[in-house]
Amino acid sequence: MTEPSVETLPLHHVAIIMDGNGRWASSRGRPRVFGHRKGVESLREAVKVAGELGVKQLTVFSFSTENWRRPAEEVEALFELLRRFVAADLDRLVEEGVRVKVIGRSEDLSPDLIKIIENAEERTLHNTEFKLVLAFNYGGRDEIVRAARRACRDRDGDLSDLTEADFARYLDTTDMPDPDLVIRTSGEHRVSNFLLWQAAYAEFVFTDVLWPDFGEADMKAALEEYARRKRRYGGING
Ligand code: IPE
Ligand code: IPE
Ligand code: MG
Repeated sequence: MTEPSVETLPLHHVAIIMDGNGRWASSRGRPRVFGHRKGVESLREAVKVAGELGVKQLTVFSFSTENWRRPAEEVEALFELLRRFVAADLDRLVEEGVRVKVIGRSEDLSPDLIKIIENAEERTLHNTEFKLVLAFNYGGRDEIVRAARRACRDRDGDLSDLTEADFARYLDTTDMPDPDLVIRTSGEHRVSNFLLWQAAYAEFVFTDVLWPDFGEADMKAALEEYARRKRRYGGING
């Protein structure tokens, strides 16, 4: 019998909690933002490698609804990095057939950033090669509460026959498949409010590698680990 391998995987959607930028920078005596900048390079590489390995969607946790607790200058630096990432990469992403989508609480973002996001989504709307989803100002609990409010409004307050599938359509991830695999870097073993609904049956791979060091070999290792898992969804086969 051949070993399960990344080449034969039915792996559609990978999600990543890109963690460890601050520690990576601190260990080099540099400011935390230096790690965030290096982290953007890892993200570019991750998109490329995931695409080459046949993954169709990558969802990356870029800023959480709890990250507002950080010093204002770090928060501002993270917002600035999103602006710069879009400015530097959008043309290339358009050309490469990458569809960009941003999920999260957009109402807290500044009008200029909302415009930048809308433009990126619009310009890549018809791209089908790969989907890059940036979870920015995203929190799973916040998303579920926003969805509940929308469902309630749409249905005049009567949710008595709302199904799971109905509810999922109100989430920011509407029309997206659930993640098959969630990777978290930096040695932390927690979910930190990421994709709480969507990751109900995801496989989790935790690695000690800090996000700025995460490269092709680490992505392959995570996908190979996934290939060895047996998903049972509560049943007994798999
Ligand atoms: C992940 O790296 C990036 C964000 C949360 C925005 P961190 O900034 O959390 O880095 P550590 O965990 O402090 O090392
Ligand atoms: C999760 O990382 C959020 C992102 C990667 C954007 P954090 O560094 O914020 O998570 P905690 O605080 O260690 O749980
Ligand atoms: Mg962290």
